[in-house]
Amino acid sequence: MASYDDVMSLSVRRGFLWPAVDLYGGFAGFYDYGHNGVLLRRRWEDLWIETFLGLSDNYYLIDTTTILPEAALKASGHVDHFTDILVTCTRCGESYRGDHLLETKTHEEHEGLTPEEIDARIRELKIRCPNCGGELGPARAFNMMFPLGIGPMGKDRAYLRPETAQGVYLNFKREFEALRRKLPMGLAIVGRAYRNEISPRQGAYRMREFLQAELQIFFDPATFADLVPIGAAGSEPLRIAWAHEKNEPTADDVSSKDAVGRGLPSWYVYHLIQVQRFYLNALRVPRDAFRFAELDEKERAFYNKIHFDVQVKQESLGGFKEVGGVHYRTDHDLKGHESGSHAKQSITFGSSKLVPHVLELSFGVDRNVWALLDLTFHKGERAVLRLPPRLAPIGVAVFPLVNKDGIPEHAERVYAQLQRRFTAFFDDSGSIGRRYARMDEIGTPFSVTVDHETLEGKGVTVRERDSQKQIRVKEADLPDTLTRLLSGESSFVA
Ligand code: GAP
Repeated sequence: MASYDDVMSLSVRRGFLWPAVDLYGGFAGFYDYGHNGVLLRRRWEDLWIETFLGLSDNYYLIDTTTILPEAALKASGHVDHFTDILVTCTRCGESYRGDHLLETKTHEEHEGLTPEEIDARIRELKIRCPNCGGELGPARAFNMMFPLGIGPMGKDRAYLRPETAQGVYLNFKREFEALRRKLPMGLAIVGRAYRNEISPRQGAYRMREFLQAELQIFFDPATFADLVPIGAAGSEPLRIAWAHEKNEPTADDVSSKDAVGRGLPSWYVYHLIQVQRFYLNALRVPRDAFRFAELDEKERAFYNKIHFDVQVKQESLGGFKEVGGVHYRTDHDLKGHESGSHAKQSITFGSSKLVPHVLELSFGVDRNVWALLDLTFHKGERAVLRLPPRLAPIGVAVFPLVNKDGIPEHAERVYAQLQRRFTAFFDDSGSIGRRYARMDEIGTPFSVTVDHETLEGKGVTVRERDSQKQIRVKEADLPDTLTRLLSGESSFVA
């Protein structure tokens, strides 16, 4: 179990991520990634792309601009509705999110309240400014987008995009024409989003600049259920906390049949199964640390008709925390852009003419990276990051046992060979124990050591991170053995 400070200190010490611009006293809500952090993040992104774009051969990756003109974000509803409730202290001027003030006092979530409701609850609970004890001013809606003035006079109003999704909607029709003119069609973006969070906190959990991985699936609501093979999706129960039990510490195991019985469309349940599989099987999140949390009508985002958060239990953040969401956005966005731009967004597909509906699978990359660090970091006597081998920044380390007798030269040759296939790391400094310890702490699953027996043709040793056991492998077999171990195709047997 790792506290917030444990995860942050590992993260800084071992080059994953840290608060940006610390030379100038920091820059709240902004984080920089080091080499190991970038590698871990990219491995997560690759696995995400492989998993979710792999759901259909009509799903694709695109890339769009991160600055959007006001007209587009007005049409999407963000200019008017993308708000949090801001409360400011009348004495010291410190700003707070209204729902967070209530949450801190009651230990329950308070999403979806109006400014008036927040004011009433603040008075009822007698909440004062946490910073100075002063009286809190009236709650008001605060738009979270960063405004920009484009051009030399700054006349054209624009915003940094608050979600990657809008870039996809603006390009839907063009892509539909350019690709196979077939539904369902999926368009994904992995890219930056920006939000002027009122109180960025808890490390990578609430950032002002962050990465999202979002897949927008465009479909015809009349036929989607028939096209999505829920029967073939398996029968594993889903971990669900329904809206009325969100403040409970656990989740129910719900069969997909029961989930459909409770009114969720079968195509929606099918995608819940896929998301749960990604977390339990690919990311290896323990079952009891994963759940979907339903949001009720008041809590869900303004564009959603069905909204379940994806949550992972993290000791460092004090319990279940949102890392993603499964959003049924209906035709809200395409219709919005149709009326905002006066360009028809309907398409002809088979015998129907329609504005497609959208199911969005949305994930925060940084929050997922943090969740992995939290779940896999084991402090104890030996600090070790038990990342799934595929996600580890460094796949394999190579060590000469001693720095003499031609062993370092031989180890360099082994390293050069492995480097062509894996992200490998060569280390000849310090005792072998210290070198293992350094690799354990960044999650390197396998370490190869070259020793005197290697020079006698008896192969190298391969040590596994978690069991610390070793096997001897012939040099000629080493690349293939490591490939199978890293992909999970074979397991390490000592
Ligand atoms: N396109 C839908 C959308 O943006 P969202 O729930 O607002 O929905 C999606 O955001 C995901 O983006 C969240 O589940 C979370 O993982 C991540 N995210 C949102 N705000 C964030 C922030 N301030 N810092 C880090 N990640 C954030």
